[in-house]
Amino acid sequence: MRNEPIETAALTGATYDLVLMNGSLHYVRDKESVLRRVLLASAPDAVHAVTVFSTATPVPAEHAAIPVFPDDEGGTVERFYQSWRILLCAHERNRAEHSHPGFAPHAHSHVKLIAARTLAQTEGH
Ligand SMILES: C[S@@+](CC[C@H](N)C(=O)[O-])C[C@H]1O[C@@H](n2cnc3c(N)ncnc32)[C@H](O)[C@@H]1O
Repeated sequence: MRNEPIETAALTGATYDLVLMNGSLHYVRDKESVLRRVLLASAPDAVHAVTVFSTATPVPAEHAAIPVFPDDEGGTVERFYQSWRILLCAHERNRAEHSHPGFAPHAHSHVKLIAARTLAQTEGH
């Protein structure tokens, strides 16, 4: 377990078979840069799973306490994985959130994507 900024976390020294980016990329302005760094540390047949706030609905105030950069549906994340084998791609819109005790009732929109890298994509992305 390491606690580092996602933008600069050292990803060398390991090759990752499975990468979970759950609820984190919407805190990153330059998502493609992070995705490229993660890709360099990923196995040729790695699976990546991403959940990111989407722009389909406004980010609730409770979640904008720090700068937040939701992605468009069909935006940076989906374009990045367009040549991968897509196992799941879902656009959740305005889904009620129940797991934040103390927050006012609110709803989120997400892009949810699970993709498998194949040997054909190891040269590009
Ligand atoms: C919605 S939570 C998701 C946490 C976890 N991925 C999960 O699935 O439960 C978002 C987390 O991202 C962290 N975070 C926000 N900006 C970050 C950054 N630039 N680098 C690393 N972590 C960040 C926050 O501190 C928070 O713990």
